Amino acid sequence: MLRFSCLCLFLWALESSSSQVKEDVDVLVLLPQNNSYMFSISRVAPAIEYARKQLARGPLAGFNFSVRYVNSECGVNALYALVDRARRDRPDLILGPVCEYAAASVIRVASHWQIPVISAGALASGFSDKNSEYALLTRTAPSYLKMAETFATMSQHFGWKSVHLIYLDDKEERNCYFTVEGVHALLEGQHDISVSMMDSKESLAYLDEIVKSIHEHEVVIMCTHTDVVREIMLMAHRQRLTTSNRLFFNIELFNSSSYGDGSWRRGDKYDNEAKAAYASLNTVTLLRSTKPEFENFSLEMKKSYQRGDVDVCEGCNNINMFMEGFHDALLLYALALNETIHSGYSKKNGTEITRRMWNRTFEGIAGQVSIDANGDRNGDFSVISMTNREAGTYETLMNYFGTNGSFQLLPGFNSERFTLRGAPRPPLPEHADQSSGGLGLSAVTGIIVGGLLGTALLMAFYFFRKNYRITIERRARREQCDGKHRQLREDSIRSNFSAA
Ligand SMILES: *[C@@H]1O[C@H](CO)[C@@H](O)[C@H](O)[C@H]1NC(C)=O
Ligand SMILES: *[C@@H]1O[C@H](CO)[C@@H](O)[C@H](O)[C@H]1NC(C)=O
Ligand SMILES: *[C@@H]1O[C@H](CO)[C@@H](O)[C@H](O)[C@H]1NC(C)=O
Ligand SMILES: *[C@@H]1O[C@H](CO)[C@@H](O)[C@H](O)[C@H]1NC(C)=O
Ligand SMILES: *[C@@H]1O[C@H](CO)[C@@H](O)[C@H](O)[C@H]1NC(C)=O
Ligand SMILES: *[C@@H]1O[C@H](CO)[C@@H](O)[C@H](O)[C@H]1NC(C)=O
Ligand SMILES: *[C@@H]1O[C@H](CO)[C@@H](O)[C@H](O)[C@H]1NC(C)=O
Ligand SMILES: *[C@@H]1O[C@H](CO)[C@@H](O)[C@H](O)[C@H]1NC(C)=O
Repeated sequence: MLRFSCLCLFLWALESSSSQVKEDVDVLVLLPQNNSYMFSISRVAPAIEYARKQLARGPLAGFNFSVRYVNSECGVNALYALVDRARRDRPDLILGPVCEYAAASVIRVASHWQIPVISAGALASGFSDKNSEYALLTRTAPSYLKMAETFATMSQHFGWKSVHLIYLDDKEERNCYFTVEGVHALLEGQHDISVSMMDSKESLAYLDEIVKSIHEHEVVIMCTHTDVVREIMLMAHRQRLTTSNRLFFNIELFNSSSYGDGSWRRGDKYDNEAKAAYASLNTVTLLRSTKPEFENFSLEMKKSYQRGDVDVCEGCNNINMFMEGFHDALLLYALALNETIHSGYSKKNGTEITRRMWNRTFEGIAGQVSIDANGDRNGDFSVISMTNREAGTYETLMNYFGTNGSFQLLPGFNSERFTLRGAPRPPLPEHADQSSGGLGLSAVTGIIVGGLLGTALLMAFYFFRKNYRITIERRARREQCDGKHRQLREDSIRSNFSAA
């Protein structure tokens, strides 16, 4: 009997060791060296190393990752780095780049060579088209289109009609351009949209004009430098725009030290005025979640910064989405590679590995990560606002969950804040506690089209379409005249990239 169970144990051990696949995996990481980026090599490398060590302890320990970090900067050097690196042996996996223009060329070549690319960046809408050029891209951070769902769902619930988008364009990385492009893409068609572009070299030059165009719209959505947000809010406040029937949002996805308590404070004579103005401002940011394992991760990251050469400054070494995303990227790849090899394909079959990374949910370092059927991570976002006007402190009012398109309302939520006077009022949602499902409104299932209603919707659509076109035309004409306003280009990133 004892012998029999020993034999069983032996067989079981044999079985489990033989099912553990052994494979050397050559990973090329393309990120900038410059520590002014939140996703610089020195910040992200410890996260990738952490994932590698965790994997080496687990059931996938048979994978031997050799990770090479190459400075891609943020432009075309990323492509040169890949091509130089791949002269003899092509890597099995590419992590990064994050910057859109660097990513575009790298992903095109990698897809052509069938090398999987996983990035916590490349967030622009154009990368969602996986049919050809970006076929082997998997994104482990939520893209700008996913972020825009937060606005689309709010708009659907609160009945927004007109939206003014304001963004700062640095003409280099163009993060705000791509951010606002996502919102534009999702709100287009159902809203009267206008757009103001600010040149980063003279961002405040046309502030008057921009604030003037706020007058005509119900909802203002900004993506710009924090100091510019303050200037806009101050001017809007002086013109009593913050007290009337209007909603202000700014989008600040990654840098958690630039919003929240005291973000209005500069130590100048306008602080009090800014505090009052910011009472009307809502910030959309990534929902950050943690779990017990995250503490250890976070501690290990801090330790490696102290060892390394990263400046330790307040806030700038907080764990950010890029670190989490690249950590999770390696886990996801390992899961998919394991399955791929078990199904009899090789690690060189990037198409098969990529297919297995898509449409799956797995446990990341900060919580569940759900990759949609198009290889893009579903995003969770928070709306954060000032809830104490005297102290100027902030709370999260609601969370948006991309996997089911619903909002969770938190105790600080007050529907008055988001209801436009004059607009058709939706029934007031109940105050939900932390655990309940919230509005339960789904962006996908929210519309029931009956016969009559369908006709009304069609007419409404036509009307808005027309209205929208008129706005565009008017804006376009104004742009030709004085060049101060610039319509958000409607062409895809693809053609922008081609032109770049
Ligand atoms: C890093 O980037 C910042 C901002 O883009 C720039 O001012 C700085 O010169 C760069 N540093 C190096 C070493 O290239
Ligand atoms: C892991 O890969 C590296 C580089 O390919 C190799 O030098 C090393 O021997 C491998 N380690 C194991 C345990 O296979
Ligand atoms: C984040 O925001 C803070 C406050 O605005 C700023 O000082 C810091 O430079 C920002 N960090 C990065 C990496 O952009
Ligand atoms: C983190 O976990 C690892 C093992 O999982 C352990 O060796 C290490 O000491 C932990 N670090 C901290 C700071 O708890
Ligand atoms: C590796 O793949 C095999 C076959 O699909 C599966 O049974 C096993 O659970 C996988 N291992 C891990 C750690 O996911
Ligand atoms: C890669 O995997 C796919 C299945 O997803 C298969 O059809 C194809 O033949 C494989 N390619 C190679 C080169 O093995
Ligand atoms: C995604 O996975 C689910 C099951 O997990 C499956 O029902 C669905 O068909 C898959 N979708 C695609 C597009 O592969
Ligand atoms: C949506 O998903 C989140 C997190 O995955 C969950 O907490 C919430 O209860 C879900 N809401 C609904 C209405 O299913």
